[in-house]
This record gives sequence, C-alpha cells and structure tokens, in this order.
Amino acid sequence: MKKARAWQLGIRDILIMSRQQLTLKRPLWIIPIFVPSRELSDEETIALVVIKEILKSPVQSRNPKIAFMFLTPGTLPFEKLWDKFFNGHEDRLSVYVHASREKPVHVSHYFVGRDIRSEKVAWGKISMIDAEKRLLAHALLDPDNQQFVLLSDSCVPLHNFDYVYNYLMFTNISYIDCFEDPGPHGNGRYSKHMMPEVEVTDFRKGSQWFSMKRQHALIVMADNLYYTKFKLYCKPNMDGGNCYADEHYLPTLFNMIDPGGIANWSVTHVDWSEEKWHPKAYRAQDVTYELVKNITSIDKSVHVTSNEKKIVTVKYCMWNGMMRPCYLFARKFYPETLDRLMFLFSNYATF
Ligand SMILES: *[C@@H]1O[C@H](CO)[C@@H](O)[C@H](O)[C@H]1NC(C)=O
Ligand SMILES: *[C@@H]1O[C@H](CO)[C@@H](O)[C@H](O)[C@H]1NC(C)=O
Ligand SMILES: *[C@@H]1O[C@H](CO)[C@@H](O)[C@H](O)[C@H]1NC(C)=O
Repeated sequence: MKKARAWQLGIRDILIMSRQQLTLKRPLWIIPIFVPSRELSDEETIALVVIKEILKSPVQSRNPKIAFMFLTPGTLPFEKLWDKFFNGHEDRLSVYVHASREKPVHVSHYFVGRDIRSEKVAWGKISMIDAEKRLLAHALLDPDNQQFVLLSDSCVPLHNFDYVYNYLMFTNISYIDCFEDPGPHGNGRYSKHMMPEVEVTDFRKGSQWFSMKRQHALIVMADNLYYTKFKLYCKPNMDGGNCYADEHYLPTLFNMIDPGGIANWSVTHVDWSEEKWHPKAYRAQDVTYELVKNITSIDKSVHVTSNEKKIVTVKYCMWNGMMRPCYLFARKFYPETLDRLMFLFSNYATF
C-alpha cells in the first residue's frame, strides 16, 4: 500500500515536499529527487512553480489590516451593527462590497464608497467564485490587507473587534472549511472530466464563507488551471447531477496544495441541525443572550457525511496549538433581528 502510494505523487505531494525541504537544515545531497507518476502538463508545471513561489514568500506589512468583503444582493441589513463593531479601529480594517443585484444604500461611513464593480451572481454557479475573486482582487490592491474575510448580508459579528483581529492576525493559516464526504452531496458531485489534475480522492467539500491569508488570496488570483476545471465540470446539471463550485473549488484546491495551511473549519457559524435544504435562519425572538453565548462557546467543529452512514467527525478547534472557540461570525439572521443584536452587542462587549 505504502509503496504504491509513493508512485502516485501528484502536484500536491511535490508542493508539500518542497516546502518541507525548505525547512530542512540538512545537506542538499540527501534530498531525493521525486518523480511524479505521470508527466505533468505545461499548465500544471506553471501552476506548480507559481504556487510554490507564493507559499515560500510570506508577506508582511507594518500596518496589518483585515479586509471585510461583503457578498450581497443589495443593501446590507446589518451595517449599523458592523459600524458599532468597526468603531475606533479604522486603521486596522477595510471594507469591500460586491452587490450583485442592486446598488446598496449605505448608512455607515465605513461602507460609503466601498462598492466594487459587480456582476450578477447565480447560486451554485461559477459566477459566485468570480464574485469572490473580484472581491479578493480589489482587497489585494491594498498591501496592508493580510486576512480576507468573506461575509454575506445575513452575517453578524460574535465578538468585539480586538478579539476578531487577534484571532485572525496572529495565526499563519486560512480558515477554510474542508472535509471529505463520500456521500452524494460530496464525492457524488465529482466529475471524471476533472482528471487527471483533480482525482476523486482530492475532491473536498466545505462552506464557502472563508477567512484567507494573503498568500492564499494570491494563489486564488494566480490559479487558472484548477479554476477552469471547476468552471467547466462543477456546475448544476453536470453529468446528470449537480455540483456547486462555491462548495468545492477552494476546499479542494487548498487541500491539494497546502493542507497544513488551512484550519479545515470556517470561522462563520451556521446551524444545519434542522437537516433541511437551508440552514436555520434566526428571527427576532430567537436572538437572546443565551443563543449568542451558546454559539460563542462552541469549541468543536462537526462534519457529517451525506451517505447513509452519516459519519460524524468532531474535532476541537485548535488555534496555535491551543483549544479555542471556533466562531467569530454567524449566519443566517433576518433583518428584523438588528435591534436585538445591537442591544446584545452594546451590553455584552466582552463577547
Ligand atoms: C506557522 O507558523 C508556525 C510557527 O509560528 C510554524 O511552525 C508552522 O509551520 C507555520 N505554518 C504554516 C502553514 O506556514
Ligand atoms: C486539515 O486537514 C488536512 C487533511 O486532512 C490535514 O493534513 C491538515 O493538517 C489539517 N489542518 C490542520 C490545521 O490541522
Ligand atoms: C443553549 O444550549 C443549551 C445546552 O446545550 C440548550 O439546552 C439550549 O436550548 C440552548 N439555547 C439556545 C437559545 O440555543
């Protein structure tokens, strides 16, 4: 088994090994030469070179900021809450808004003038990834942005700004949700057309709401090879099934090229426990101190496979090797919850 594996080295193994080599303080001559199991195409070799260079060049800034990137159809119902959250920290954040349906009306000065050029977004289609890439591209223009958080119009913060800033900034990983689901809603969506670059064993699933470090955002900009595979072969009505690129492209890409560089859970909480087609959406009467307390005290990430076995994987959320609560943000909240959330946020700033 082990032997067979050694001959199945793909682009991923080469990347991991070359990163390990960088940290080896041994003489060069003991490093073996790895021969991939198949001849790489020009595109794969190019991707390998670019990704490797980006991964080995950490980026630093004297004034590191978090880019808050909002993906929304139109007006953001929680601007007042975000305004309160951002207040006093303007030098450590920047805001970007991609409104795909109508021009938003802004009530907070943090959001005024922050709309970027947008295009229509169709749920589950590549246009969703294109909008995420558009947000990343605009946010990367500011060299101080070091972490890039993707948020929706129904997302709210769970902690104060300092907590969120320290949590995201003092780690060198991206919080990208990622797990292997052998069931119909996971590998069942894989298309063999993705071969040879993406094998079914590479295919991963995860929530689209990420927080990404700058190096990883650059890799998303640079990647054309894997992006094109997902654009062509991971879409609704593909091979008689449905594939949703926003749930598979980034988890699969980063699992292949930098598995140790992602946390494997998202810092945005969502409640799927009702097992419906959509996650639970909170109404005004649901929003209590107890609810927020419950969500902020969760310290384990849970993944359930979509096959009949429904295998549950539970992992502690580890932050720099220490157990920490998993979540910084939560969704989905109805606009009617704004007043309750403002009240809780004002009265429990210690969250
Ligand atoms: C993150 O930094 C720690 C040391 O601070 C290092 O051991 C680890 O390899 C780094 N991880 C990545 C993915 O670069
Ligand atoms: C994420 O999962 C991958 C694949 O299972 C694993 O190699 C990696 O170590 C995990 N990341 C962290 C930070 O534990
Ligand atoms: C909070 O968690 C407790 C313990 O798990 C549970 O009994 C309670 O119903 C939860 N409350 C809310 C509002 O989610």
